[in-house]
Amino acid sequence: MRARRLLLVAAALAAVLSACGRDREPRPQVVAPAPEVGARGNPATDIDGLRRHVPITTEVTPLPMAVVENFDRRRGRAYPMQPPTIPHSIDGYQVDLNSNRCMLCHARSTAAQFQAPEVSVTHYMDRNDQFLAEISPRRYFCVQCHVVQTDAEPLVANGFRDIDSLLRDERAAQAAQARQ
Ligand code: HEC
Ligand code: HEC
Repeated sequence: MRARRLLLVAAALAAVLSACGRDREPRPQVVAPAPEVGARGNPATDIDGLRRHVPITTEVTPLPMAVVENFDRRRGRAYPMQPPTIPHSIDGYQVDLNSNRCMLCHARSTAAQFQAPEVSVTHYMDRNDQFLAEISPRRYFCVQCHVVQTDAEPLVANGFRDIDSLLRDERAAQAAQARQ
């Protein structure tokens, strides 16, 4: 009689334990989808241009792909030594050991034929300021410095003003003072 009760208790205990064990097995986690976060952020206050203060665990809604402008309108340069941006698309233009597609049109010898601005003399100078007959190795990979123009909005705010607009303001202020 006693032995049977003991057996029963042992069986019950085993059942409870196995139930607990099943509970401890990892269950598939159901994670609610992250709330959508506008990828634009606030360029006036956000310095973090890439993640825009969105926590690393939250998915950012990506910006639409920027469209390359291909209508030959040259943009102004913000400062004198800025490499001008490229006013045409450069899809498939190969620049490698054997050929430089950009120089097909931008070399001095062919620029007139293609109605392209020729690269400036700086592009023929080596590091000792000697002028070479061919494009300098320092300027061979054009897109190291020149980028295509796109319709992308700036990711961060930028208060840069060039020297001309600063001088203009200063002269206007001086003129206003002189009138007083
Ligand atoms: C088929 C001829 C052709 C090829 C190839 C070409 N370009 Fe041009 N590029 C032009 C012409 C023409 C212009 C003048 C503006 C216009 O009509 O788009 C120009 C303008 C530019 C300008 C603007 C210059 C300025 O003063 O504003 C840059 C920079 C430039 N190209 C860089 C490049 C780079 C870099 C490559 C190679 C990846 C390249 N181009 C390949 C024809 C060409
Ligand atoms: C190391 C940076 C750098 C590289 C590489 C470079 N450029 Fe430039 N490029 C500049 C700068 C800076 C300017 C503006 C000042 C100047 O003319 O030197 C410029 C100016 C130009 C201009 C305008 C010239 C003018 O007189 O207005 C053209 C066109 C140009 N580059 C084409 C090219 C092409 C094509 C290549 C590749 C073969 C190339 N660049 C490689 C920095 C570079």
